[in-house]
Amino acid sequence: MAPQPMHRDPSLIPLSHQHQHGLALTVFIDRGLEAEPTREKALELAAKVARAAESELLGHFRVEEEVLFPAVRPFLRSGALLDVLIAEHRTMEDLIRRIAEATDEERIPLLKRFGEVLHGHIRTEERQLFQQIQARLDASQLATIGRDIAAKVEAVCPLAGEASRA
Ligand SMILES: [Fe+2]
Ligand SMILES: [Fe+2]
Repeated sequence: MAPQPMHRDPSLIPLSHQHQHGLALTVFIDRGLEAEPTREKALELAAKVARAAESELLGHFRVEEEVLFPAVRPFLRSGALLDVLIAEHRTMEDLIRRIAEATDEERIPLLKRFGEVLHGHIRTEERQLFQQIQARLDASQLATIGRDIAAKVEAVCPLAGEASRA
């Protein structure tokens, strides 16, 4: 995995840390299916996606939508970027449900699609959204958001980190 290209403000590090887990999941999916495009591998990856969703990913979406996005929306050039990111959360939730219920024929294409959407989503947040936030908010605004993010992560991702260890 490439190192993070920019200095990340401490307020956003809990979310960036979870992004690293998300990127690791996309690499597992990608490499796993490339090396072994079998029903067994797809079932194993589907279980991994379900665990990641439950332990961290769905909570991560909530932290962003309930804390980060509303707090930063007034400072951004436009809210359009946030609206795209929220729509991608819904797309990924839908893919997570469909992967859990997939037939053998559907499972591999759904896993690949999920990996692509998650990868692009994290890149956009890290390279566009977080960069804009760091450029447009001052230190005390960032510190306030950082406290709110840390509290929310604690509340909604109690199992955070387990997916990456699984
Ligand atoms: Fe997101
Ligand atoms: Fe995110």
